[in-house]
Amino acid sequence: MNNRLIIFDTTLRDGEQSPGASMTREEKVRIARQLEKLRVDVIEAGFAAASQGDFEAIRAIATAVREPVVCSLARANDRDLSRAAEALEPAARKRIHTFIATSPLHMQVKLRMSPEQVLEQAKLAIRFARNFTDDIEFSPEDGSRSEEDFLCRVLENVIAEGATTINFPDTVGYAVPELYGETIRRLRERIPNSDKAVWSVHCHNDLGLAVANSLAGVMIGGARQVECTINGLGERAGNTALEEVVMALRTRGGYFNLECGIDTTQIVPASKMVSQITGFAVQPNKAVVGANAFAHASGIHQDGILKARETYEIMRAEDVGWTANKIVLGKLSGRNAFKQRLQELGIELDSEAEINAAFTRFKELADRKAEIFDEDIMALVSGEEAAA
Ligand code: KIV
Ligand code: ZN
Repeated sequence: MNNRLIIFDTTLRDGEQSPGASMTREEKVRIARQLEKLRVDVIEAGFAAASQGDFEAIRAIATAVREPVVCSLARANDRDLSRAAEALEPAARKRIHTFIATSPLHMQVKLRMSPEQVLEQAKLAIRFARNFTDDIEFSPEDGSRSEEDFLCRVLENVIAEGATTINFPDTVGYAVPELYGETIRRLRERIPNSDKAVWSVHCHNDLGLAVANSLAGVMIGGARQVECTINGLGERAGNTALEEVVMALRTRGGYFNLECGIDTTQIVPASKMVSQITGFAVQPNKAVVGANAFAHASGIHQDGILKARETYEIMRAEDVGWTANKIVLGKLSGRNAFKQRLQELGIELDSEAEINAAFTRFKELADRKAEIFDEDIMALVSGEEAAA
């Protein structure tokens, strides 16, 4: 079996569905550029039919990035699919991701459709999407609460119509690892044409199991795409955290025996950028990207670290993009040190004039404050009041 894991980032679509996390078009383009530096394989840039703003953001991202596949979400109807295709026109590589709910509850209560109607609509959607691209992903929404026999029928049919990726969403974060992995394994076994598609996992974190479920979907189920977001941003309790999945693969490489294309040194800059743009602080004890993830407070641990870092560290801070930060920024700091810190924080200002303006604000702040922290810099470039 192929050992390349596709990293599908949905920070700009499912991540943005987090209440209070909405982003402007320019902010989304900045994040998309950082995702390209991070070397994600697919960027889900938005949901084109959801709003004019989303449509324009997808178009802008499709123009701005060249390497990753750019994807738009679309419900399984002609209008949504056409909007997605239109938004994706400038993309070097594009994907349409279409979905329809398959659980009894969603079909009866939300869609008010019979299973036969859902099956028919799913097939028609793939057939229609093929007018625009050959790269088509299908998601049976609320998959983990859907009946297996029905899933087999729907998925076999959408693959026959041309879907090239089958995503299995745990929409409400209800799954537990072994069962989730086993379900994917059985679906792949029972569906005769299952190997014509790449299987994908998409997990929500309502029970704090999104990463564990995703990894089980990969290891037990044989999925080869993980859908995830930076910092685990997403609806309710969030989505699978990209940084956790990627660092699990890297750190326990012998167990997973899987490769992905991510440049891990871009993880912390991406995390800081998403946090700064959305205003969602990263909890200090968050794995990989939390401020304390590599901090050692107890005497015994500090002693161990000084003797050999491996005593209490399973990964290297610098490998995920933490910088030693030996330079303390204050009123005596120069423009170069300031510029360097902007880079470390993943902040890209468009011109020298913008850097100069930010540097002037930095100097004004440094006159009032002995030490300038990263949070102060992020606040001053976003035009907010600096942290006290
Ligand atoms: O959680 C979910 O079911 C989704 C789908 C649209 C893939 O985000
Ligand atoms: Zn989702």
